[in-house]
Formats: sequence, structure tokens, C-alpha cells
Amino acid sequence: MSLKIEEMKSKLITIAIDGHSSCGKSTMAKALAKRIGYAYIDTGAMYRAVTLYCLINGIIEGDEVNIKRLRRHMSNINITFQVNAEGVSETCLNGVNVEKLIRGMEVSNKVSIIAAIGLVRKAMVAQQQVMGQNKGIVMDGRDIGTVVFPNAELKVFVTASAQVRAERRFKELQNKGDTTTTFEQVLANVEERDLIDSTRKESPLRQAPDALLLDNSHMTIPEQDEWLYAKYIEVSGRK
Ligand code: DC
Repeated sequence: MSLKIEEMKSKLITIAIDGHSSCGKSTMAKALAKRIGYAYIDTGAMYRAVTLYCLINGIIEGDEVNIKRLRRHMSNINITFQVNAEGVSETCLNGVNVEKLIRGMEVSNKVSIIAAIGLVRKAMVAQQQVMGQNKGIVMDGRDIGTVVFPNAELKVFVTASAQVRAERRFKELQNKGDTTTTFEQVLANVEERDLIDSTRKESPLRQAPDALLLDNSHMTIPEQDEWLYAKYIEVSGRK
């Protein structure tokens, strides 16, 4: 029995999925994790939860962040994930389920500012490294293959055109009942986040030299899922 467990453990790998915002990273990462029985961690949700905390506690006002206050509050921010009845992982901030709140435009408009702050990144990266220390994890974000797990066995960098990504995000918001956000606002948000994410000083978004590039502008969800699963089989040797 224990030999079998050891054998299974030895095959576990770390899978890092990075890329631009709204390019379907989470969808493919989640699907793969479910299919192969790995844990899934959405690191963007962690930065979103910190942003929500900052908004609630007056740490960010307009585009100004009170760094002193943030530093004092950082140890009070506890982010966890809880699996709901449908088996979907949801984000909790200090024990409260904030999954819905962190996906709204209020948080989306400020999250790049919070995610560019060194002390926030340091705290999040440390938590992510603990979450993935036993491998068997699919983690998606911006710096997973470059900073969090530079030794990940499988690294993928996902992208799609800004127009296509805004269309997908807009549909998603509409399906959630948001009737006030316009397509132009979503496109502007996607473009602004690309700019901030890729030009920031702290861990700018970039493709790790050993990451596989996937442009899914013209791919369906089942197509990208199969592509990723095939890469996993190739790298892990699992049949
Ligand atoms: O993937 P997302 O759109 O939920 O990410 C939200 C923001 O957090 C996005 O602006 C980039 C940032 N982020 C980051 O800087 N590093 C990560 N590992 C994940 C997300």
C-alpha cells in the first residue's frame, strides 16, 4: 500500500499557467486539475481578495494606496479557498466567501494597482509556495512559472488578442446579470491591465523562457483543454 502511495507521489508535478488577463487561463487550469485530480489555485483571486480588503478598509482611495496602513493590515488578511457544492473552489477573505464580490468591476479596476505592490506580492508568493509545496497542483497567474515555481515541470504561457479577451469577459459579465458595464469599458480595462501587468517593476508579466506558448484566440474550450491535457501526459509520463 505505502509503496503505491510513494509511486503515485513521485509522479506528481507542478503545473504553472501564466498569461494575460481574461484569456481563459482559469478555465483551462480548472478543467485540467479536475481531470487529473490535482488541486487548483487561482492566484489572481488572491490579489483580488487583497484589493477588496483594501477597498473595504479605506486603504485604497481613487488610485492612491496608503502603504503604511496596508503594511499594518497585511497580517490581518487571510485568504483561503473553499470547495462549494458543485465542486468549484471559491475564495474566502477572513472566513467570508467573497467569490462574487472579487469578480465585479470595482475590484477589477483596482487590482492591478494592488498587485504591483512589492509587499503584497511577497506575502502572496510565500502563501502560494506553501500551497504548492507537495506538487500535484495547477496554479494560474502571472508569475507562477517565473517567480513562484521557476522549477515547475510544465509551464504554459497563454494569450489571445485583447478584442477576443474583452468579448469573452463581456459575455461572462452579462451572464452574471451585469447590465451596466459596456463592452468599451471591458476592453479598456483589459488593455489597461495588460499595460500595468507587463510594465510594472515587481514581477512583470512575461513568458518564462521554458514555457510553452498558447494563443487561444481561435480555439474552442474543448480544443484548449485537449491541448493542455496532451502536454501534461507528455511531461508527466502518466498514461
Ligand atoms: O487573473 P486575474 O484577472 O483574476 O488577476 C487579477 C489581477 O492580479 C491582474 O491584474 C494581475 C494580477 N495578478 C498578478 O499580478 N500575479 C498573479 N500571480 C495573478 C494575478
